[in-house]
Amino acid sequence: MKEQISKIKESAIQEIETANDLTQLNDVRVKYLGKKGELTALLRGMKDLSAEERPIIGSLVNDVKEELENLIQKNEEELKKAEINKKLEEEKIDITLPSTKIRRGSKHPVNRIIEELEDLFVSMGYDVCSGPELETDEYCFERLNLPKGHPARDMQDSFYITDEYLLRTQTSAVQARTMVANKEKTPIREITAGKTYRREDDATHSHQFGQIEGLVIDYKENHVSLADLKGTLEVLVRTIIDKNSNLRFRPSYFPFTEPSYEVDVSCFKCGGKGCNLCKQTGWIEVLGCGMVHPNVLKMNGYDPEKFGGFAFGTGLDRLAMFKYGIPDMRYLYANDVRFLKQFDRKDVD
Ligand code: DAH
Repeated sequence: MKEQISKIKESAIQEIETANDLTQLNDVRVKYLGKKGELTALLRGMKDLSAEERPIIGSLVNDVKEELENLIQKNEEELKKAEINKKLEEEKIDITLPSTKIRRGSKHPVNRIIEELEDLFVSMGYDVCSGPELETDEYCFERLNLPKGHPARDMQDSFYITDEYLLRTQTSAVQARTMVANKEKTPIREITAGKTYRREDDATHSHQFGQIEGLVIDYKENHVSLADLKGTLEVLVRTIIDKNSNLRFRPSYFPFTEPSYEVDVSCFKCGGKGCNLCKQTGWIEVLGCGMVHPNVLKMNGYDPEKFGGFAFGTGLDRLAMFKYGIPDMRYLYANDVRFLKQFDRKDVD
C-alpha cells in the first residue's frame, strides 16, 4: 500500500512539474485529487484495512494530498504569471510611433468676437437677447421710427419675403422687441448679436453679415446720458480692438436716435498718423449710436417723459476684420479651412 502511495505521489509530482499551462495542470488535479481521482480512490479503499494500518495509511495519504495541493497551487501561480507576461509581450504598444492626428475645429472669428462682446457686456450688467432673422416690417422699421415710405429705408436694401415679412436688415429690430416685451416694467440693459441681410455684395459688403446692438433705457431721474454712451463705447472699442484707441463722435442721422452719431476709432494700424487703411485720415468709422428717440420709446411702450436711454449698433464682420487684420470680408463666409485654421492658436487664451 505504502509503495502504491509513493508511486502515485511520484508520478503526480512529475505530471505537475511538466504541465505547460493551466488546463493541463487542472487535468492533473482531477486525475489525482478529483472525486474519481487516484488518491481519492485510495482513501475510499481504507475501509478494507486493519484497524492498526488505517490511521498510518490515512495520515500518509493526507500528507501526500496536502503536498500535491500545495505544489499545484504554486505551479498554478507561476503559470498564471507566465500567461500574463506572454500576453504583455504579444500586445506590446509602441508608444513612440506617431499618432493619427485628430482634426480639431476652431471657433470662427466672428463667433469669437460675439462671445467676447457678450462676456464684456454681461460683466457690465447687460442681458443677452435675441430676435428672429425672418422679421416683420413692423419691428424692423415701423417701430423704429421708419414708417412705410420713409426715405431712410432706402439705405437698407432689403430681401422681402412677403409685403410684411423680410430678412432683418438690422439687429435694431431686437430693441423694439425688448421694449414691447418689458413695457415700462423694468429698465433695460440688453445686448444682442446675430445675422442680418441686405441686397448688396462686393469686397466690403456681403448679402449676409453680422451685427451687434446695445440698448439701455432707465428712469429719467437716473440720467442715462451721452457721457454714459461714450464711456460704454470706449470700453467696447478698447477691449475688442486696441486698449490705446481713441474715439471721435461725429453728428449723424438715424431715425431711431436723437441726437445720433457715427463713431470713429483712431487707426490701430498707424496710430492716427495716416495710412492706407484709414485712407490717410487717421480715423476708421466703426459704430452708429445715439440717444433713443422719444417716438421709439412711445411706440414701444415706454413714456418718454419718464424714461430715456441710449443705443448703439455695429457690424461684427468689420470688428473681426480689424481685430484679426483680415483684408477681405468674403474670407469670413468662404468656409476655407486654410483661413479658419489660422485662428486655432487664438483659442488658447
Ligand atoms: N442699425 C443701424 C445700421 O444698421 C446701426 C445703428 C445705429 C444701431 C445707431 C443703433 C443706433 O442702435 O443707435 O446701420
